Amino acid sequence: MLVYEPDIEKVLLPSEQIQAKLVEMGEQITRDYADRPILLVGVLKGAFVVMADLARYIRLPLEFDFMAVSSYGAATKSSGVVRILKDLDHDLEGLDVLVVEDIVDSGLTLKYLLKNLAARKPASLEVAALLRKVGIQQVKLDLRYVGFDIPNEFVVGYGLDFAEKYRNLPYIATLKPSAYGG
Ligand code: IMP
Ligand code: MG
Repeated sequence: MLVYEPDIEKVLLPSEQIQAKLVEMGEQITRDYADRPILLVGVLKGAFVVMADLARYIRLPLEFDFMAVSSYGAATKSSGVVRILKDLDHDLEGLDVLVVEDIVDSGLTLKYLLKNLAARKPASLEVAALLRKVGIQQVKLDLRYVGFDIPNEFVVGYGLDFAEKYRNLPYIATLKPSAYGG
């Protein structure tokens, strides 16, 4: 049988800890937006897992939309080059938009995205990110909701991939060097 476990070096955030944090974030979002309907915007593919769970902890009417942007491919470093591969279905004008991200690393992807989305005149534009790598953001970003600050290591699981694998792990972990292509 093919299993992922032999590739895992260490579990940084177990599933229960992630869920507990998302409950907190969901409650905060529910309070902050009170009776305003939200449009959740997910950045594919990584954000689909956190979006699915977080949305169920937000007790407000909301709609979903998704965007796909180019990412690293099989490399593990941000190129700073962002290209929109799939745009939103919603017209954002007048909407309260909450962008859901899996991880903010250099911040380059998000910075580009926020500038692009702001130009569409939403009523408000905020970000909820599950993870933020500490000390390496190359740009200043105002993140309204952040789950965890983590060290500057490459992580997989809970939506995050290496070469499109490991997204379905229920926890967030680092990989053994051997998993990177030996
Ligand atoms: P940034 O532009 O450097 O902030 O990176 C943005 C994107 O890179 C994220 O949305 C992820 O898709 C990917 N990424 C950054 N760090 C990691 C990581 O540690 N594991 C997996 N993907 C990552
Ligand atoms: Mg991503």
